[in-house]
Amino acid sequence: MDEAQILKHIIESRKSSFPRDYTDQEIPHEILEEILNSARFAPNHKKTKPWRFQLFRKNEKAGLGQKLAEIYKETTPSQIFLEKKYIDISSKISRADAVITVSVNFSGLVPEWEEIAAVAMAVQNMYLTCTAHKVGCYWSTPGMIKHIDEYLQLEPNQKCYGLFYLGKI
Ligand SMILES: Cc1cc2nc3c(=O)[nH]c(=O)nc-3n(C[C@H](O)[C@H](O)[C@H](O)COP(=O)(O)O)c2cc1C
Repeated sequence: MDEAQILKHIIESRKSSFPRDYTDQEIPHEILEEILNSARFAPNHKKTKPWRFQLFRKNEKAGLGQKLAEIYKETTPSQIFLEKKYIDISSKISRADAVITVSVNFSGLVPEWEEIAAVAMAVQNMYLTCTAHKVGCYWSTPGMIKHIDEYLQLEPNQKCYGLFYLGKI
């Protein structure tokens, strides 16, 4: 296959895969680095590099799962609160080998939507790199992320836009 065919193949075979489909196998460290590194090559107006990614594995990942479950409990009215969903939140995180939080840094130099768009393209790069390495992944945007900025120690001009789950398939 020439370069164009390889690219076409990777783009067309990219798909989301979910924690229930991940195996217990670890993603090698250098592949995780490669995935994160690919994000940096996304186009971004005025080179503001608006992406802020935080990688969670092992105990830190468990802590993130616990925090998200707590947020669900605290922000959900009791009449619609579901114990199963509460338990599922942290167990889903535990099924993933790694979780990358996807946040945007708003520089004020370009319209906000352009920085969100640049970060979405950075996530697409990670999706494609995952595909090339046969790593399952998906971008999740649960309601709890509206309340996670403080836990992630984000600055006032930064906001979390989702969780990127990764696991060997
Ligand atoms: C910005 C964004 C947010 C998403 N949020 C969720 C989500 O909260 N839950 C979910 O199951 N999938 C989410 N997805 C993944 C899409 O649902 C998924 O891409 C869709 O099912 C199509 O499947 P594919 O990626 O295999 O083409 C999100 C995707 C994007 C781009």
